[in-house]
Amino acid sequence: MVAWSPGRVNLIGDHTDTTGGLALPMAIDLGTTVTARRGGDRIVLRSDVEAAPATVALVGPGPGATGPGWERVVAAVAQEIGATVGLVGVVQTTLPVGAGLSSSAALELAVALALGAGGSPLELARACQRAEQRATGVPTGILDQLTCAAGVAGAALLLDARAGTVRPVGLPDGLDIVVVHSGQSRTLVGSGYAERQAELARAELDVGPLRDAVVADLASIGDDVARRRARHVLSENARVEAAVDALASGDRRTFGALLGASHASLRDDFEVSTPALDDTVERLLATPGVLGARLTGAGFGGCVVAAVEAGAPLDGWRVRPSAGARLL
Ligand code: GLA
Repeated sequence: MVAWSPGRVNLIGDHTDTTGGLALPMAIDLGTTVTARRGGDRIVLRSDVEAAPATVALVGPGPGATGPGWERVVAAVAQEIGATVGLVGVVQTTLPVGAGLSSSAALELAVALALGAGGSPLELARACQRAEQRATGVPTGILDQLTCAAGVAGAALLLDARAGTVRPVGLPDGLDIVVVHSGQSRTLVGSGYAERQAELARAELDVGPLRDAVVADLASIGDDVARRRARHVLSENARVEAAVDALASGDRRTFGALLGASHASLRDDFEVSTPALDDTVERLLATPGVLGARLTGAGFGGCVVAAVEAGAPLDGWRVRPSAGARLL
């Protein structure tokens, strides 16, 4: 089996998926390949970026928690898709690990496909989302797995987390997407991710589903912190819709400005930025040809995504929208 999954970059719409909101990600032309032979009752995978192999027995007691972190991810995928036949092979990736480009969703999808998982991209994404939660204990949303599963070559995706749907959104000519590492690696385990979800849940106790709430509702959120977190979500959902309109009309400047507003909201209202991310955004905004920049993904370190005039020189990964995970 040769299974491949792209990573993803989120252009705009972060921390909206867990309350059924909107995002505008794209699957990218960096990704993870699993090359393996199916058979037996064990999974044994080696990786070019992990020191220790992942070894998972499909019979007997479940996997212990003693193995490397990526072994837990592989084991969780096997459990979620109900794998009964093993796999021996190698994992190779062109994605930076722990940078916010969904290296872990790409691993989950490629392993799931190599193990013979079927179903629609949404079903595959949901199984891998559950695996991610099971392996890490972090209550992550559907953004990463659905983007990697349902990617469309040449297009970003308007992702509606409540509906579980994606709609292709073309990128206008003259626009490059460049991803720049802040130099600070991140992991969601031990980050404020789960705490933010709890704060959003608190806001929803006061105003109901945030996806249906309007700005005027914010005043009835009693808790100050929960109100700011909810304000981010409402404003970010609106920015995603505005960004889709800006791309459709080829308005690159407005698109860039929306990225900047998104970063400010993630920094000030949602509080998931860091000095390293803020500095990277500032530096990029002062660079000729950069239309806008923001942290991408969960924050707490990792990468910044920049909208750039085509061809403008800038160090980083110049990524292109790619098709979704598949068997090759
Ligand atoms: C992580 C999670 C996603 C999403 C983003 C923030 O990548 O896995 O579900 O919540 O953070 O937008």
